[in-house]
Amino acid sequence: MSRTFAMIKPDAVERAISGKIIAKIEEAGFNIVAMKKVQLSLADAQAFYAVHKERPFFGELTEFMSRSPIIALAMEKPDAVAAWRKLMGATNPAEAEPGTIRKEFALSIGENAVHGSDSDENAAIEISFFFNHFEQV
Ligand code: TYD
Repeated sequence: MSRTFAMIKPDAVERAISGKIIAKIEEAGFNIVAMKKVQLSLADAQAFYAVHKERPFFGELTEFMSRSPIIALAMEKPDAVAAWRKLMGATNPAEAEPGTIRKEFALSIGENAVHGSDSDENAAIEISFFFNHFEQV
């Protein structure tokens, strides 16, 4: 069993489709081990996405992620990182496979509904960014 970290991004929370996205997560067999709604500050978003700080989209990304609340989730499944990235679909919804969350719900490459960790190591870092050990079942 392994864990990954997910966020439902501001564009999706604003459109009140977080329940639909959580239903897809559960239907895909993930066990949600922690979940909360959080308003990130700009500094929080900059810290979370520090790996992208030299990228041209960093300002836009961090302003978007701190514009309104996100829902953070830690979730468990065999090969969780890869399974969640497959269910999310490509970063750019125009390139996302049918049946993926981004194909169905993303608005653009920036406002793309969901986040997912890209490695087991980053999943552990991202889960501990949002949740202490009391908050994980
Ligand atoms: P990235 O880690 O490449 O994608 P993913 O979320 O699929 O792991 O990028 C992180 C986020 O940065 C991405 O979800 C949306 C934003 N982004 C842009 O706004 N423009 C871009 O050109 C890219 C590559 C990403």
